[in-house]
Amino acid sequence: MINQLISIQKRMKQLKSILVIGLSLLISVAVTAQPVKGGKKISSDLFGLFFEDINYSADGGLYAELVQNRSFEYNPTERSEWNPFSFWEYISPGFSYGRVSVETSAPIHLNNPHYLVLDVEHVGKEVKFVGISGVGLKNSGFDGMVVKANDQYNFSMFVRQLSKEPISFNISLQTPKGEVIAESKISTSSNDWTKYAASLKPTQNCDTASLVILATTEGKFAIDVISLFPEKTFKNRPNGLRADLAQMLADMKPAFIRFPGGCLVHGDGLGNMYRWENTIGPIEQRKEQRNIWGYHQTAGLGYFEYFQFCEDIGAKPLPVLPAAVSCQNSGGTWRIGGTGQKAVPMNEMQDYIQEVLDLIEWANGPVTSTWGAKRAAAGHPASFNLKYVGIGNEDKITPEFEERFTMISRAVKEKHPEITVVGTAGPFHSGEDFDKGWKIANDLKITVVDEHYYTDPEWFINNQHRYDSYKRNAGDVYLGEYASWGNKLRNAIAEAAYMTSFERNGDVVRMASYAPLLAKKNFTQWKIDMIFFDNVTICPTPNYYVQKMFSANQGDFYFDKVIAKDEKDNSLAASCVQDSNTGDIILKLVNYNETAKPMKVNLNRFGKMAAEAEQTVLAGNPDDENTFTNTKSIVPASTVVKIKKTFDYSAPAMSLTVIRIKTKN
Ligand code: AHR
Repeated sequence: MINQLISIQKRMKQLKSILVIGLSLLISVAVTAQPVKGGKKISSDLFGLFFEDINYSADGGLYAELVQNRSFEYNPTERSEWNPFSFWEYISPGFSYGRVSVETSAPIHLNNPHYLVLDVEHVGKEVKFVGISGVGLKNSGFDGMVVKANDQYNFSMFVRQLSKEPISFNISLQTPKGEVIAESKISTSSNDWTKYAASLKPTQNCDTASLVILATTEGKFAIDVISLFPEKTFKNRPNGLRADLAQMLADMKPAFIRFPGGCLVHGDGLGNMYRWENTIGPIEQRKEQRNIWGYHQTAGLGYFEYFQFCEDIGAKPLPVLPAAVSCQNSGGTWRIGGTGQKAVPMNEMQDYIQEVLDLIEWANGPVTSTWGAKRAAAGHPASFNLKYVGIGNEDKITPEFEERFTMISRAVKEKHPEITVVGTAGPFHSGEDFDKGWKIANDLKITVVDEHYYTDPEWFINNQHRYDSYKRNAGDVYLGEYASWGNKLRNAIAEAAYMTSFERNGDVVRMASYAPLLAKKNFTQWKIDMIFFDNVTICPTPNYYVQKMFSANQGDFYFDKVIAKDEKDNSLAASCVQDSNTGDIILKLVNYNETAKPMKVNLNRFGKMAAEAEQTVLAGNPDDENTFTNTKSIVPASTVVKIKKTFDYSAPAMSLTVIRIKTKN
């Protein structure tokens, strides 16, 4: 017994010393993480994405749902001509007849009040009719559904049988000519709301297909949440994202994604604010609402899906919540100077603050917590590792804003000191809201502040030293929205020049994201965007390529004096960073001139490096742009080049060059 005790004691001692060695190793690793060869430590979250549900970016865009108005919740507050039956067609092929009505008395969920009732009086059996007889509905999605031969499409619907006998359904995909290219059958079995599913496999490709749901037996039923998804969503996630569009974003390797929007977040009046809690849980229980940009949001792409996407592509989530005030332009008051800001009443602020705190618990809390359990129930027991929360979006800095922002940010800091609150500094690069926003943030010791500005390319060229003089002892900058007014190469290159200044000032510029990100052809509310798309084609702009060349080539140490150029010519810009994970040295060389310009690279301060490097160049004429007829008019070209410790580089006219060099130990 004593021997046993002694040996246990010995083991404990051994374990203790292993632990001490392990800990000291960990500490020494942390302590010895030195700037790589004298570089300046810069943000490793510098280049990310800002996703806003604007320009049909979510429904009809990144969100892969093919059915439009799946829950019959469209309404005239969104468009005067819209109603719950918009984008649906009542059909009764084969000399059949019946009745259809929109009802609200016994919905699936109170958040989803409208549904249809169909009363199938007669299913025609006339001998001369060829095809499927019945009474039902047709939906052509967002200007036609794109389906691929032999791919699987997952159909589902909620039905409540209102007559005694089961109802049989024929579900099909049809071409505009009515050719059936996929078919499946469903039969109801309950007088309660029940979800029925089927899968469809088209026999041919079609870019303009419709979904047809036909009751083929007589009877009465209620129907709601009719959905059709490709099985092949991004990473095959159910309720997932359109794979090709999501891949374009993933290819950028963004460090973070800010979502779900800018103005969309603070909303057109208090009732239109984006409330995150309404966007989680089963889709039939989510609260749909008017999108401030003049259409409908199903919230099918909701907080769970945003967080999941961030995780899937290795980006940090940056959700933005309203600062308990609505958009200053609410009700169209931008026409009279933006006086439309409304504030959550003080007696509702505690509940509002709780909603913000609940988000943090939902994202990070243990599965035993109230909100962590909801995340787990949705299929994600592990924490989403939330680190940043944005409060407010370029709000008018009024006393009402200040009071509420102060309350919310204090509550978050107090309960969750591990979370970084991102403040807001108005919609312009300077001016009253900008100054007041920064002052409030600094007074409250907010460590990151969101600036926004959209302006012309020359402004970006002429203001490349803006951040050189920013105080290093105040909050860091998140340039959450910026773009020069245009999608031509000159715009993209002006942005590239400006982006080198983020790297140079990466000790004070923590994050940056171009805006807006996505825009559906013919459905845009904001003309200048990063990626245009329709149902079939994606048209990336030169601005996309510039963003991608920076974000897929981020570093965490900055080196000055590596690239020599004519310092008097502010149309030239350059930066050098190193990624301490891979050891790669990354050069970015920008020429906004219309002729080639010389630059000299000196890599002598770096150790051994590979003899060859990957060089990617985006260059062309200033007015070059991509269009739907030629989506590849301007694309970057990559080649492998020989690298010496010092070399001359002739930066092509109107160009961005990225050279990525591998180092050796
Ligand atoms: O990016 C488009 C809009 O521009 C955003 O919603 C808003 O924050 C800004 O005014």
